[in-house]
Amino acid sequence: METIIKEKIKNYIPPAHWDFLLPFYDIGCVLLGFGKNFRWRIIQHLGLCGTERILDAGCGTGTLLTMLKEIHPSVVAVGLDPDEKALQIASHKSHRNNANIILHCSTMDNMPFENNSYDVIVSSLVFHHLQKDNKLVSLKECLRVLRPGGRMLLVDFGPPRPYIVARILSRLFSLFEPIEDGVEGRIPELMLKAGFSKVNEDEKYLYGITIYKGYK
Ligand SMILES: C[S@@+](CC[C@H](N)C(=O)[O-])C[C@H]1O[C@@H](n2cnc3c(N)ncnc32)[C@H](O)[C@@H]1O
Repeated sequence: METIIKEKIKNYIPPAHWDFLLPFYDIGCVLLGFGKNFRWRIIQHLGLCGTERILDAGCGTGTLLTMLKEIHPSVVAVGLDPDEKALQIASHKSHRNNANIILHCSTMDNMPFENNSYDVIVSSLVFHHLQKDNKLVSLKECLRVLRPGGRMLLVDFGPPRPYIVARILSRLFSLFEPIEDGVEGRIPELMLKAGFSKVNEDEKYLYGITIYKGYK
């Protein structure tokens, strides 16, 4: 296991929006319905054969990566996130689970990877943390590091469902985070604009959270 930190990153929205809430991020996810079942569904949608190089862009506290390595021990699992403290939690978690994961402290708009270096990219609950003018740039960067034929799963707010609860929640979120592109259904359009092909909606989850897939 390795954590690579080249520079301190500022100007990003941390996992639980405020740093002091980070210790409660994992339990908050479980209480809101984004626990193991949610991660399990994402892993199923990834459709891995088990030997891929996979990047979790905005991996946060590393829950998805750790589960991935448990299920597919031979994948090369790399996580990237600008939040050093979240990466520390991810590192402890993977250590506890004996999962060999490489962690990079960086942002999605400028990733320290070669062109065409991943078979699969997954990014869950990150898109609404990216500033409006940073979303397209970040998607283009994902496309750059994905190998031709590779796929990206982007999981984030889509148009709200069930309507009332989702609408209230997304309104609440929009007070703090740039969520509009998601709830207004513009993620597929942005993925296509970035250069992804065969963009489709794989599944809807709670509160309108949607799994989008696109290919290079
Ligand atoms: C709500 S958390 C989701 C974490 C994890 N993917 C999950 O599903 O639990 C959003 C994550 O996006 C990260 N983030 C914020 N801005 C980012 C950026 N520009 N590039 C990459 N990650 C970013 C945050 O640090 C945080 O870990």
